[in-house]
Amino acid sequence: MSVRKIHTFPDPILREETEPVTTFDQALKELVADMAETMYAAPGVGLAANQIGVCRKVVLVDATRDKEKNGKREYLVFINPEIIDAEGSQVDEEGCLSVLQLTANVKRFQKILVRALNLAGKPFELEAEDYFARIIQHELDHLNGILFIDHLSALKRTLYKRRLKKILEEDQDASHAEQ
Ligand code: NI
Repeated sequence: MSVRKIHTFPDPILREETEPVTTFDQALKELVADMAETMYAAPGVGLAANQIGVCRKVVLVDATRDKEKNGKREYLVFINPEIIDAEGSQVDEEGCLSVLQLTANVKRFQKILVRALNLAGKPFELEAEDYFARIIQHELDHLNGILFIDHLSALKRTLYKRRLKKILEEDQDASHAEQ
């Protein structure tokens, strides 16, 4: 297992099409193990495979939240996931490991029904609501090349891009200064 590099906006890999998983082998298990380690090291509550540069339809969502025992983490794996039913709406703050230094309110469905495959390739359905439904929707967006900033107004996005440019330039100046 290893912690992998998380790609951040505006890296074009985050916009690339993701391929469905068709083989449920050891390599897939290793990918998921790396994703879990990367997610918890970040730390984050969800991660899509394309965030670490693997354009496959694999998503992890932390399920520890209220029941963290002895530091033991639990997460759910969704392979080739799709939302098959949704209702209501909720607005709350989101951030993303691939979007540096930004949180913003995003509107999501309040309740969703997800269909996906597990690590063994077996189909399952899961009903989720509120915070948990929000994370799942955010991660499934990743698989479609969508980031939470795409849900914001054009003005907010423009302001963010301008601010990010400055942040990245300052980072570069700092690393040059160190050399
Ligand atoms: Ni994200």
